[in-house]
Amino acid sequence: MTENNFIPKTYSNSIENGSFTWSSPSNIALVKYWGKKKDQIPENPSISFTLNNCKTTTSLSFTRKSDNESFSFDVFLDGEKKDGFKSKIETFFNRVEVYLPFLKDYHFKIETSNTFPHSSGIASSASGMSALALCLMSVEKELLNGPVISNAVEKSQENDPYFIQKASFLARLGSGSACRSLEGDLVVWGKHQDILGSSDLFGVKFPHQVHDVFKNYQDTILLVDKGEKQVSSTVGHNLMHGHPFAQERFKQAHENLGVIAEILQQGDLDKFIALVESEALTLHAMMMTSMPYFILMKPNTLQIINKIWAFRAETGSKVCFTLDAGANVHVLYPEQEAAAVIAFIENELAGYCQNGQFINDSIGFGAQLIMKSL
Ligand code: DP6
Repeated sequence: MTENNFIPKTYSNSIENGSFTWSSPSNIALVKYWGKKKDQIPENPSISFTLNNCKTTTSLSFTRKSDNESFSFDVFLDGEKKDGFKSKIETFFNRVEVYLPFLKDYHFKIETSNTFPHSSGIASSASGMSALALCLMSVEKELLNGPVISNAVEKSQENDPYFIQKASFLARLGSGSACRSLEGDLVVWGKHQDILGSSDLFGVKFPHQVHDVFKNYQDTILLVDKGEKQVSSTVGHNLMHGHPFAQERFKQAHENLGVIAEILQQGDLDKFIALVESEALTLHAMMMTSMPYFILMKPNTLQIINKIWAFRAETGSKVCFTLDAGANVHVLYPEQEAAAVIAFIENELAGYCQNGQFINDSIGFGAQLIMKSL
């Protein structure tokens, strides 16, 4: 499979207008993507839990226009026009135009909303870019196949790996981690020798049977710092070029993905904790050893980590943490520990969060078509 497989044949249908709405979740990586090559090709494979509650809903309305010379679109967040978002979407459209040659034929209205607060420090790029990619794929599907009867896009999508693969491929070109948000409950992105079907071009569902202990795994996101990040992920990825430890890190991530694939099947939570926490701290160690160097953790991030370690030592709990590219802490734990861990979070960790805020989430199963109108 190459990029060229995603360049469509001529469209057989002509559509004047319509709209699609998709909701797509965020995800949290267990083995982290940090460092990329040209065209959003990851330097190493990664694996994530798909989330359930933290998601973006995007409606894409389209109307045929008289010319096809340039992109034409407006973006709204929670009903408010957001011209500030346009340049990111324009960049995305430029990257994907060769794969979606209809983009200049229509004026698009993109209306989006997140279930999590916009300024929560939770990145909306994974859920937002995957939702937009799915809306665009729904348009393409109509242009290729014509109107499908009844609840069809969802149905045919199940039988149509191309739809989901290309949506993931397009989402990746918007934001790398977005390609892991379309399905659940575990998604691998990046070629890995032990994961059949894995690809640098799109995310694939973890292909093995997962141990019951990971079913409905919980993720409570502690909102430590809701401010704008000092260094964006894209800048951080670029700092892996020429980074003194980069090659070792990429090798380690390959090894860790092989190891976690076994852990997920066998259900050894002690090994899971050691690998996941080490991945989180390694990610931040890469940031601290970049040139220029930077630190995204805050004092309260470290306070929380220490509290989790102490709680685990005292109680034998299997709770652990991971971090994304920011100060917030994802607290991961098995469903059967939910009552005890939530009590621990409320009593001992919420005080380290901005305004005491945290979001309870759990593993989810991916994006959903909400509405279609033609
Ligand atoms: C630390 O996907 O946000 O969350 O591809 O430049 O948009 P771009 O970066 P992004 O990077 C995410 C990095 C991470 C780890 C991960 O999700 O694997």
